[in-house]
Amino acid sequence: MTSPLLRTAQDDAPRLAERSAAVKTATVFILDFGAQYSQLIARRTREANVYCEIVPHDTPWSALADREPAAIILSGGPESTLVPGAPEMDSAILSAGVPILGICYGMQLLARECAAELVKLDHAEYGPAMLTLCAGESSLFKGVPQHSRVWMSHGDSVVKLPAGFVQAAQTQRCNVAAMANEARKIYGVQFHPEVAHTECGRQVLQNFLHDIAGIGSDWKMENFVDRAIAQIRQTVGTDRVICALSGGVDSAVAATLVSRAIGEQLTCIFVDHGLLRKNEAQRVVDAFRGVMHLNVDAVDARARFVDKLSGVSDPEQKRIIIGHEFIRVFEEEAAKIPGVRFLVQGTLYPDVIESKTPQSKAGHKIKSHHNVGGLPERMHLDLIEPLRSLFKDEVRVLGRVLGLPDRIVQRQPFPGPGLAVRIIDSVTEERLDLLREADAIVCEEIDSANLDPKPWQYFAVLTPVKSVGVMGDGRTYSNLVAVRAITSEDGMTADWARLPYELLERISTRIVNEVPGINRVAYDITSKPPSTVEWE
Ligand code: XMP
Repeated sequence: MTSPLLRTAQDDAPRLAERSAAVKTATVFILDFGAQYSQLIARRTREANVYCEIVPHDTPWSALADREPAAIILSGGPESTLVPGAPEMDSAILSAGVPILGICYGMQLLARECAAELVKLDHAEYGPAMLTLCAGESSLFKGVPQHSRVWMSHGDSVVKLPAGFVQAAQTQRCNVAAMANEARKIYGVQFHPEVAHTECGRQVLQNFLHDIAGIGSDWKMENFVDRAIAQIRQTVGTDRVICALSGGVDSAVAATLVSRAIGEQLTCIFVDHGLLRKNEAQRVVDAFRGVMHLNVDAVDARARFVDKLSGVSDPEQKRIIIGHEFIRVFEEEAAKIPGVRFLVQGTLYPDVIESKTPQSKAGHKIKSHHNVGGLPERMHLDLIEPLRSLFKDEVRVLGRVLGLPDRIVQRQPFPGPGLAVRIIDSVTEERLDLLREADAIVCEEIDSANLDPKPWQYFAVLTPVKSVGVMGDGRTYSNLVAVRAITSEDGMTADWARLPYELLERISTRIVNEVPGINRVAYDITSKPPSTVEWE
């Protein structure tokens, strides 16, 4: 049997059922109706130490029943249940006897399924509202104050309760802000308990998960490690495994976990494409060989990549060239290791959801993200994806549990195509060196400023713009470097970090003084959207 945390190229469907058999973790399913906040619901659920998975809204009960869901949450969504063609759910879920919590659209759908009356509001209600609990406290609101601030985002409203339900809370503009059927353990909230602006949000979710659905707080990283190691050993047996190490958190944690399970059977291949930051290649190799005792094969492919990128200035072209070349180098190295059957990938849960939810299916491609995608099919390898049920912050916790050094666990995100997408126009050795020096100054200064909170990501960008300057008594005509520092939770949206002027001044002075070839520094003050984090 395939292990639940592992996926082969052929099997995906049976995986769901197998996981429960092997892991026996109480699982909550979140039916995704396309809400912006579905992932946030999942994170809050995990924060309550409860394991959950997001599944498409139309997942039939027959696909969930084998997993014996401990509870089901219906997410919000951008549509109106009053419009024909709005996303539906399998009504068999409602009569399955599983505790259900409907949030926003989820509550409205519950109401509609139970023959309640809904109307479109004259004015949609967005933003904060004051929630008032109704008489006869519902178990959903145990420990919640009589009045508390909640966050609303809806255009329709339940005006007549379904049979068997009572009104549990209201706001000034929304009469049925929460409804409850205590006997059937079915609840609906019009507000969003998952967002930070809802004061009682965590309490409401915890009441639902722990008290109403009776789920314990069992989802702990230590248990995860033990289970994952056992499963990896069972799947791999005596075969050989390879892993592409990038120095990033995800591949580092995935490789360390697999190495814990199978030791010398794992070979990590680190492709030095020459597009890393100053001293980074050496640091990565030293950390993994010296500190983590991984079996690392370091390949110096710097010349190959610069050669392939010569004269290429189009961002997508750069990304594609780097992706292809990476696969080529990796294949050549892997071919030197006999008997390889598995490839480790640091796929995270958001990647898994993104390929499945309706919202992302409709999304536009902004950039071709480079990782080792495409490798397994070409090389006929089976995949080991030990992180595919985890969020990024859980991966960092796992890294700490596995004893990875802080500088790896806390490493800021770094794009697969590296500095190539931070050099606007074509990439040359000389430009890479310029950027590496400027970037090192940005990182040193921001690191030593001990900012709280620290920006999520910060780096330098080398622009092809040349401007006139004066140094000493001489005229200069050199490059402009841009500094980018952002705050973000997940890279999906970002704001520019309000760095102190003194810090910006130190960065600018040092770059211009210490990096010959740069005579001007600009600070990027655009958020994402409309910009992206990386310039290319
Ligand atoms: P953008 O530029 O799309 O970046 O706003 C969002 C986050 O993703 C990182 N990024 C990448 N990560 N491969 C990666 O693994 C890539 O090709 C890639 N491109 C951008 C970026 O650094 C930011 O954290």
